[in-house]
Amino acid sequence: MSAPDPQKILQQQQEAMVERQIDELTARLRQGPHAFWDTQPVPHRESELAPSIANMRPLENSQTKTIRREPLPLPPGFEWFTVDVDNQSEMQKLFDLLSEHYVEDNEGMFRFRYSIPFLRWALKPPGYLRAWHLGVRVISTGKYVGFISGVPSTVRTDAQEHRMAEINFLCVHKALRSKRLAPVLISEITRRINLEGIFQAVYTAGVEIPTPICQARYFHRSLKPKKLISVNFTHLQPRMTMSRTEKLYALPATPAIPGVRPLRPADVAAVRPMLNTYLRQFQVAMVFTSDEEFAHWFLPRPDVVQSFVVEDPADHHITDFFSYYVLSSSCLHSAQYPTLTAAYGYYYFNNGHSLTELMRAALVMANNGNCDVFNALDLMHNREYFEELRFGQGDGNLNYYLYNWAMPRIDAPALGVVLL
Ligand SMILES: CC(C)(COP(=O)(O)OP(=O)(O)OC[C@H]1O[C@@H](n2cnc3c(N)ncnc32)[C@H](O)[C@@H]1OP(=O)(O)O)[C@@H](O)C(=O)NCCC(=O)NCCS
Repeated sequence: MSAPDPQKILQQQQEAMVERQIDELTARLRQGPHAFWDTQPVPHRESELAPSIANMRPLENSQTKTIRREPLPLPPGFEWFTVDVDNQSEMQKLFDLLSEHYVEDNEGMFRFRYSIPFLRWALKPPGYLRAWHLGVRVISTGKYVGFISGVPSTVRTDAQEHRMAEINFLCVHKALRSKRLAPVLISEITRRINLEGIFQAVYTAGVEIPTPICQARYFHRSLKPKKLISVNFTHLQPRMTMSRTEKLYALPATPAIPGVRPLRPADVAAVRPMLNTYLRQFQVAMVFTSDEEFAHWFLPRPDVVQSFVVEDPADHHITDFFSYYVLSSSCLHSAQYPTLTAAYGYYYFNNGHSLTELMRAALVMANNGNCDVFNALDLMHNREYFEELRFGQGDGNLNYYLYNWAMPRIDAPALGVVLL
């Protein structure tokens, strides 16, 4: 037998100490109503939101925070990995995980089906980091069982701009639910974000956790009512026939306003500042900091994102802009239709036409683009057009959160942030 290696013993003692600390923390955490979120730098209850704009502040001091150098430990048999968004087979495995295990509606009728081109768009903006496309897999089989992503973005709260991580696609395989894997994914991505010198994040969730800065509601506008009724997305209204319903939602083949055309690369330099200026009226809003970033998020990509400008027919100046992203859901109980395709209202500005007329044009384009329904949140000025354009209120809320930033709660019309 060889003499014990002091280096190794030290390492084992350190590992045991870390394990003990994690166990103690976990035990302490179990006592709170939010065993995980109660330990995080977020407002833990309404009363901890900042009382006014003047009191906005980070909830932990990034200067004194110690950031672990090594990834958090995972249960035996699992390992961390990062997805290479340019690798087709890795993206296929991510698609498989999300299309089977990601968000469903409350009744279990529909499940988001983010396509590979959509995921690539969402995960690969300028300045993206592969380390923030974080997954957990089974070591022996390579099967993906958990995922969370972050991408860099800039969010303004009142007069302050923050470089943030935009968090999305948190997902745990159904067989591993309620085993506290989600807090490990969230903590590990937080660590990786902190390592880049970023200490704030923005994220949304249908569930309410501590503590939303804003609650928005989805509104839906039927484009293909017959299909929507068939898959039980909506129902035939009392005293309405199918043909009257179809007539009610029928749209013209072309927009009523002249000069609507797709956004082109040559428009980017002019349109980006116009959108940023428009977004300044909202208390909290996204900021598009470079032409490259704007081009990424808005230049049209088939079945992913569509953006249009309105060009003045006389002087060819751009007066208005609208965009929507396209996302399908699996219909889990329909024999006739495997999927449902929705357009989601994204960013816009209007200097030439009313918002209602602009969004009527968006409905026409989405309808021609084979979308079945147009969804929009009641943020920005969206409530202005819902009634006239025949949007109906949905039953789900979308809560908005900021990590490590206390600010007052705001109403949806004061918000200019749309996440994917
Ligand atoms: C969301 C999901 C990853 C949570 O995993 P889980 O196995 O159900 O829960 P875990 O036992 O791992 O963790 C529970 C903790 O995660 C928190 N949590 C649950 N959903 C969350 C969410 N969407 N965002 C942030 N935290 C969340 C819980 O509040 C709880 O923390 P708490 O005790 O402090 O309240 C999982 O349910 C899932 O994949 N659902 C389908 C996809 C989905 O809804 N993703 C979120 C989109 S916003």
